[in-house]
Amino acid sequence: MSTHNVWTHKGTFLLAAVGSAVGLGNLWRFPYLAGENGGGAFLLIYALTIFAVGIPILIAEIMLGRNSRRSPIMGMRFLTRTHHTSRSWESIGWLGAVSAFLILSFYSVIAGWAIHYTWQMLTGALAGADAETIAAGFDALLASPALLTLYHTLFIIASGLIVGLGIHGGIERGLRVIMPALFVILLVVLGYGAVNGDFAAAAGFLFTFNIADLSLEGWLEAMGQSFFTLSLGMGAIMAYGAYMSGEASLTRTAIAIAVVDTAVAVVAGLAIFSLVFGAGLDAGQGPGLMFVTLPLAFAEMPGGALIGGVFFVLVLGAAISSSISLIEPVAAYLVERFDLTRPQAVFAMVVASWALGLLTVVSFNLWAEASVFHSLFGRSAFDLLELLTNIFMPLGGLLIALFAGWALTHSEVMKEMRTNEAWFGAWRFLVRFVAPAAVSFVFLRAIPQVEG
Ligand code: PHE
Ligand code: NA
Repeated sequence: MSTHNVWTHKGTFLLAAVGSAVGLGNLWRFPYLAGENGGGAFLLIYALTIFAVGIPILIAEIMLGRNSRRSPIMGMRFLTRTHHTSRSWESIGWLGAVSAFLILSFYSVIAGWAIHYTWQMLTGALAGADAETIAAGFDALLASPALLTLYHTLFIIASGLIVGLGIHGGIERGLRVIMPALFVILLVVLGYGAVNGDFAAAAGFLFTFNIADLSLEGWLEAMGQSFFTLSLGMGAIMAYGAYMSGEASLTRTAIAIAVVDTAVAVVAGLAIFSLVFGAGLDAGQGPGLMFVTLPLAFAEMPGGALIGGVFFVLVLGAAISSSISLIEPVAAYLVERFDLTRPQAVFAMVVASWALGLLTVVSFNLWAEASVFHSLFGRSAFDLLELLTNIFMPLGGLLIALFAGWALTHSEVMKEMRTNEAWFGAWRFLVRFVAPAAVSFVFLRAIPQVEG
């Protein structure tokens, strides 16, 4: 059974894909990874991977969705049948669904922290606070399973409501409001950072590179981040592609998604580092950069409470436009396969992911160190979920590249791409050889983590 649903407007796929791509990955993860891994050198490798590996796989993933016009699991089943290839390619759909479910579980917990900080900023609770107070506040948040569960629940319910309202009445309509607001807010925060912070230091940090600053670990982080940030290899883009108009250009759309996503990461980095350096703070703070260092910078600046509140609203909007793309592929599958209504399907996905999210919640407190979980897996549940994401997303991307590059024929691909032979040749070379080689390299990152 096919849904035959198509976005109402030709440009909606782009809007939805950008909504999926732009998220915590850009605002939270990119700045702290760049801060820890030499700034400009990290940005250079990250951007190269986006263009040489990310865009070709993005094209492939949109193509599979649009060509099958089904959710990733049913879509891959359909494609293996119609193209008479091995059924083992169906694993692409399953792997994607599992990844979506795992990622949503912890993404929602982290996004929940932004609810807390929006509130703290807008009520002025942190105005004038010093470093110890702010750090202690973050520790207290993480130490409270009840608060973390509350925020996680609120965030996942809001995401579920949007997807439950359907692709037109929920996702499309929601994104039309959220996305333009995000770009305006981002520019406001950038302007504020440039005026009140140290913009020159931020630009210097991000745009001057010494490749020797980048460790092997840094290389692998940069490449892994490029998958996460483009929402690649886990079916989100495929699910949205299923509703894409047949006329829109695959290549141009994929390039636009990557350019906007990269621009948002860079602008967010410039804004955040302007504020951080302006307040005389250090860039290499790790995951606490956005939740400790940045609130501290806001606490010390004129009008910081208000603009800080606005900033965390931006984080929430970006996170929710990504989390809905994690729900959609699984919900669409449940609707197609089991004839559930959309609200039932969304409910099933969200409840299961919510429950798994409780493991992330307790990773920061009750089960932070010694626990059954640690003795079984040697790490916290949150670290295990991140590790699995770091493995599954590149693996999904690898399989998608191989399927599109080797299992689909020239004429099938040309029918979707409608491009000239030179572009086609470049794309095919990248998905057949370059992307698989690069992804295999990314897996190196997982090895020490698995052993450790
Ligand atoms: N791309 C999103 C971000 O940067 C994360 C994400 C990954 C969203 C996979 C959907 C699917 O935050
Ligand atoms: Na992103």
